[in-house]
Formats: sequence, C-alpha cells, structure tokens
Amino acid sequence: MTAQTLLLGQTLRFAADPFVVGPDAAIHDSAGGALIEGGHVTAVGHGADLRAAHPQARVVDHGDALLMAGFVDAHVHYPQTAIIASWGKRLIDWLNLYTFPEEMRFADPAYAADIAGRYLDLTLANGTTTVCSYATIHPASVDAFFDAARARGQRVVAGKTCMDRNAPEGLRDTAQSAYDDSRALLGKWHGVDRLSYAITPRFSPTSTPDQLAALGALWAEHPDCLMQTHLSEQTDEIAWVRGLYPQARDYLDTYESHGLLGANGLYGHAIHLEPRERDRLLEVGAALVHCPTSNTFIGSGLFDMAGLVAAGQRVGLATDTGGGSSFSMLRTMAAAYEVGQLRGTALHPAQLLWLATVGSARALRLDGRIGNLAPGMEADIVAIDLNATPAIAQRSTRAQDIWEAVFPTIMMGDDRAIRATWVSGQRLV
Ligand code: GUN
Ligand code: ZN
Repeated sequence: MTAQTLLLGQTLRFAADPFVVGPDAAIHDSAGGALIEGGHVTAVGHGADLRAAHPQARVVDHGDALLMAGFVDAHVHYPQTAIIASWGKRLIDWLNLYTFPEEMRFADPAYAADIAGRYLDLTLANGTTTVCSYATIHPASVDAFFDAARARGQRVVAGKTCMDRNAPEGLRDTAQSAYDDSRALLGKWHGVDRLSYAITPRFSPTSTPDQLAALGALWAEHPDCLMQTHLSEQTDEIAWVRGLYPQARDYLDTYESHGLLGANGLYGHAIHLEPRERDRLLEVGAALVHCPTSNTFIGSGLFDMAGLVAAGQRVGLATDTGGGSSFSMLRTMAAAYEVGQLRGTALHPAQLLWLATVGSARALRLDGRIGNLAPGMEADIVAIDLNATPAIAQRSTRAQDIWEAVFPTIMMGDDRAIRATWVSGQRLV
C-alpha cells in the first residue's frame, strides 16, 4: 500500500464556476482535510472524519491555514526573472531596452539553468505550482526549464520563443529553424512526466508571415499541443501590426490566416479587441490570459474581464513575469480586482481564487488534472496563512465569513502568506 498523508486545515474547493453560480460555487470547511496518496488527492472532507477513516495516514496539521489548489500562472516569461521591475518604458521600448538584452544571455545554457531554478523556487515560495512559460529563442533554454521543473516534480508548460524579425542579431531564428527546433523540442518533452510543450511564436511583430505559417503547420501536425502568443496588448503595438500585415483584417487575423487560431490557443493580454476578434476567439473556443500587474506596470490598458466572461469566453490569470511586477498570484488577484474596479465591476474573492486556480487550469486545458482540491486531482496544494502580517491579521479578526477572512490576504498578501507548497504530494516549501 502506498503511503498516505493527511493534510489538515481550512479547505476550499470549487464545485462549480463562481462566475456562473456565484460564491456558493466554492465549498469551505473550517476544519477540513485532504488525503494524499501516490501524488494524487484521494479524498477531501471533514478533517476529523478523514482522520478516523485513515488512522494509518501521516498527519500534517496546517492549523487554521487555508488549503486549496496550488496557483496556476497561465502566462510567464521565466527568462525575464532578473529584469522584473525595470523602470520607465512601455511595451516596445521595454522589450528593446530590457528584455531582448537579457534574453540574449540565455545563449549560455548554464545561465538558463541558473535562472530556471531561481524562477521556479521563487514561484513555489509564492504558492504557484504550475506555470505556462515562454523560454527564449535558444532550444537549451527550454531544456533548462523542463529539467528544473522535472527535478521538482512540477506540471509545467513551456515552449521555445520564435522570432525571425524585429529582434536584435543573436536573438533571431528563421522560419525553418523555428519549425525544426520547435518540432524537436516537442518530440523530446511533450508528455514526458508532467511536462507539456507549447508552440510559441512571440507575437506577430517579431515573426515574418513565413514563420507564422511554419508554426501554424507544426500546430496542425500536433493539434493536442497548446499554442501561446500575445494579442492586442498596447495600441502602439496594434498600429505596428497593421503596418506589418496590411492584408490582415485585424491583429487576430495575422494568426488566423497562418493557422494559429484554435481551441488550444492561448492569447496573452487581449485588451484592445475589435468586435470581430472577440466573436472569433469565442467561436473557436480559444483562451485569453489576463495579466493585470503587467497591464498596469507597462501601461497597456484595462482588460474587460466582466464583459468577456459574461459572453462565455475562457479566461486564465497570469503574472506575465517580468512585464508583470510580481511573482505572486495573490498580488495578481489584487491587481485583477483593481482593474475590475476601474472598469466598474468588483470581482468576488471566490472569482479571483477561481481564476488563479481552476480558471487558469481550464485555459491550459489541464483542469482534469490540476487547479482544484478534489479527489482524483494531482496533489498540488498551497497552505495559505490568512494572518501572515500584522496589517492583514488586524483586519481579518473582524471577518464574519471565509470571504472576509481571505480578501485581506488577496489584497495585501505575498509570499509571507504561503505557509507550505505541496507538489505532487511532496512538500517543497
Ligand atoms: N509582447 C511580446 N513579447 C512580450 C513580452 O515579453 N512581454 C509582454 N508583456 N508583452 C510582449
Ligand atoms: Zn508575455
């Protein structure tokens, strides 16, 4: 018989979508438990009942910490770890001044390995158990990331960033090499342990139509893979795309006309969408990824969460490290709340927590495996201290229910609130 571990604490899981049924979609137990066996959650229930039913299980009591699914960050650039919080530029200048020089350093596999490990340790300390990352153009940057995730037992998605124009010498591939390298990496890593490959054209301005078409062809050969890219983040970028692709009906059409629009597509940012783009994304079942700290930090704009979700659009939540200004999904939920307020909608804490777990897992098509604390799911679990700092503790003492108890941590919490992170049933933090 495999060893059993029983985690005790407050538990929070989702039985439904809080954007559809409201906060009652979440099930909270102030004295709950989760039984872990063989890297999976095998039971969730009342702590005392589980303890009585499984007396042989090793018990780890997290006290009054909140146990829920580990956070899922649906759009990150692990190579930008060391340039997070770089001052004073908007998207295109920020890419040229900070991002591209840093990504150039990943030509050195040892540097890539160093940053990959650093990045995963920082995010685990923030309660994030799965990320979907861009690497750099260097195939070894993908190897470094998957090696680091595999060593930690993590479920991650990543891909080689492809760019064959409008990037500096040394940071460009070609249509053919992007296809060949992506194909080889996909064959090497996709489905190995908990790893998945995502075909990754950076965005239309840094790819020629030939490169987009080559990657569209690769996706058609591997339709079960995710395809990730950026869409309509800043108005200057959209104007640039219009100039580079005069034939295209709109930004989305630059992807659509090259085989890069589909149900397994992940489109980061998607702030300034035309009505046709919104309709098409919904029609094909593509996912959008909201990156609120990035959108305010780089000055991109305000994502229409309420309108898109009400229309039935699948949306995930992400830090967009290092355009985003934090590694923390708590801080990211706070920013999503603030962006919502600026657009006139107050997102409920249940909706914020759902976006950071089930919502992002759904965007990554991984909701059958991760993103919820439920029997059969992989045992990626975070234990959150709801009184981690004096400022939070003095506020949460007045809480009348779980939502009032958790909202101060969403708004003011960071890695200090993460008491433990479990990955595949192993405690890593
Ligand atoms: N658009 C193309 N590349 C990037 C990137 O690295 N970060 C962000 N925020 N937007 C992008
Ligand atoms: Zn990005």
